[in-house]
Amino acid sequence: MNTSDAPEIIRIEELWTQLGNQLIHQDLDLTVRQGDIVSLVGGSGSGKTTLLRVMLGLQKPLKGKVSVLGIDIAASNNQSPLYHHCGVLFQQGALFSALNVMDNVALPLRELRALPENLIEESVLLKLQMVGLTPADALKMPADLSGGMVKRVALARALSLEPDLLFLDEPTAGLDPLLSDSFVELIRSLHDELSLTVVMVSHDLDSILQLSSHIAVLANRHVIVNGTPQEVIAVDHPFIHDFFLGDRGKRALTGTPDLADIGKLENANGK
Ligand SMILES: Nc1ncnc2c1ncn2[C@@H]1O[C@H](COP(=O)(O)OP(=O)(O)OP(=O)(O)O)[C@@H](O)[C@H]1O
Ligand SMILES: [Mg+2]
Repeated sequence: MNTSDAPEIIRIEELWTQLGNQLIHQDLDLTVRQGDIVSLVGGSGSGKTTLLRVMLGLQKPLKGKVSVLGIDIAASNNQSPLYHHCGVLFQQGALFSALNVMDNVALPLRELRALPENLIEESVLLKLQMVGLTPADALKMPADLSGGMVKRVALARALSLEPDLLFLDEPTAGLDPLLSDSFVELIRSLHDELSLTVVMVSHDLDSILQLSSHIAVLANRHVIVNGTPQEVIAVDHPFIHDFFLGDRGKRALTGTPDLADIGKLENANGK
């Protein structure tokens, strides 16, 4: 997919973020364009979730420019102005255990107080249908759902305000490979149908390679490269080498049509 002429949806320049007395981001730059599916990868604790929180206006940076959907986040006040335009599936993707599926997905719409109840319910049923759940599922409690269903409900909730921009933090973590594949398919079809821009944090190589138009690698407190999968894999950096060209990486590459040649070459080299 060539989205290089598409408008910029996210522009981060020289971002510094500090948590406690730890510097998490230093001189970090990142651009995301409309229609991109960007996977943000990096070691555990490298600051990926924190970066999503900065982009959502939930974490104030120390300095730098952060513009999301044309809104200057760094200059805005505490209440995130992006709330109505972004969908988020958090890493700890918790549903409210005391609320059934309908009420969980309806929550953002009810908070907005812009729609009468019958339209809210109609909208929730539509979102559930989009993620492959039925009206009967709407009455279930979170404790009665499988792990894959919890992710789908969380995704339906993230879609409830019909966002332009979707943030997913480890959407396939904890899913078995088959469920993971169907979740990837689901995100791809939602992206195509709703012309969403997606920023996804993931450790799951299969999902990353199947979905990403771009991969941004977070290491040494900044984005060391942001490019197509081919461009990123070609970069000589220890994290990139370990992540993409270890045994798991080579298997995933070999199974991805556009990248299979790189996987086979690496296998032949016995690297
Ligand atoms: N509220 C906080 N106060 C102080 N330090 C924090 C806070 N939240 C996170 N950190 C620290 O910031 C660093 C980055 O955390 P973050 O959650 O962004 O990492 P991550 O890349 O998402 O990791 P993972 O892949 O494990 O989810 C970590 O060292 C973490 O311990
Ligand atoms: Mg995280």
